[in-house]
Amino acid sequence: MTNLFYTRYLKPPPNNIILGKPFTIVWTVANDLGEISYWEPLIIRCRITNTSTASLQLQESKNGNSKNNRNKNNNKKLLNNEISTNTTTSVELEYDPVKGGGIMTNTFTVISSNPLKTQKNDSVTIQLVLELASGIKKHPIWTNARRVAMDDDTCCWIIPVYSLPMQILSALSTSHNNNSAREYERRVSIRSQKAGSSQEQYELLIHEDALPSIGSHIWDCGMLMCQYLAEKSFPYFDRILELGSGTAIAGIYAAHMLKPSAIYLTDLEETISTIEHNVSLLQGKHVNIVVKELEWGKPLPLDPNDKKRKRDAFDGTIDLVLLTDVLYNPSFHDALIDTLKQLMEINPKMKILLGYKPRDQGEERTFFDKIKKNLGWQWEMKLLPPAEIYWITSTT
Ligand SMILES: C[S@@+](CC[C@H](N)C(=O)[O-])C[C@H]1O[C@@H](n2cnc3c(N)ncnc32)[C@H](O)[C@@H]1O
Repeated sequence: MTNLFYTRYLKPPPNNIILGKPFTIVWTVANDLGEISYWEPLIIRCRITNTSTASLQLQESKNGNSKNNRNKNNNKKLLNNEISTNTTTSVELEYDPVKGGGIMTNTFTVISSNPLKTQKNDSVTIQLVLELASGIKKHPIWTNARRVAMDDDTCCWIIPVYSLPMQILSALSTSHNNNSAREYERRVSIRSQKAGSSQEQYELLIHEDALPSIGSHIWDCGMLMCQYLAEKSFPYFDRILELGSGTAIAGIYAAHMLKPSAIYLTDLEETISTIEHNVSLLQGKHVNIVVKELEWGKPLPLDPNDKKRKRDAFDGTIDLVLLTDVLYNPSFHDALIDTLKQLMEINPKMKILLGYKPRDQGEERTFFDKIKKNLGWQWEMKLLPPAEIYWITSTT
């Protein structure tokens, strides 16, 4: 059995911090839905990266759960080194599911920063990463994810969380806002073949919401679909459409790995800004991504058919539909199937690639009964625990 657990900021650090004033993080290690905390103690490394050209000094206060020894007369621990330009220091934190109910609190203070602005007048920023301190090996796709040592049949990946960059401000600053950030970051790495033959390697940054949500959240299926896209070879698909994109982790990954001429990332209206934000993080990466509102069961949002049609205008002709973790509510199946049927009628050769993780005693499997009995569609399934990957086609 393979499980994925995520270090998670329940209260991420704020976007800007005042020099000398403490800031608190509240964190846990939980599954994608957040309802199961990791069940055993873990040592989590809090990696603090100075992303600027200043040098910094940080202190951690004792109300947290740091593993490091402290001076008994002093509840404050100076973190080892001065963190100079583009370097990292780290502190080990104890995750104890019994003590904290899986929820941990730590307090840090940036006590000096020299200078507060760089020579180019850029802000001084740091970033906090929570990752498993040791573990069997790093995952090839999920950046800095490590496996907890377990028996032969059970394996558990701990996926790290990255805070957004935190800007350090002087105590005199008036623009200070001590609120916790609403988002944090996950990273997946891309290794793909460039035109020619050289390999290119880079990381995709995907932001997710710290508040509970369905759409603005990373799910196991999205992570596993990235792995599937990275490991398998695929034929060329000219036009790809993702339904229920959420953070669009799978769709953005597919845009890079499969290099279609156009990829449409779609969801309900309330999730469009999340997708647009994650697409905007792709600065300098040349992929042709169109973000569109598309509600399942409604007529397809086709672009007007003007004479000078744009190359990426959406006319409903799709070669591959990408779906990850969209079967969680069986009452949505009819609407989803209706949209798939509309697309299949336009291009009967269309393929559907679905990542599905069984939940709730597999109640969601009624989806497969419906597409088989009512539409005569067929599929091939590949196991990628804890998910199943389906290639679905129409028989006609
Ligand atoms: C569990 S999330 C999965 C998100 C993403 N595919 C992933 O794997 O990370 C389900 C997604 O389906 C979207 N969704 C739910 N009902 C929908 C509907 N009727 N029309 C369009 N999107 C819908 C949600 O907004 C959400 O983004």
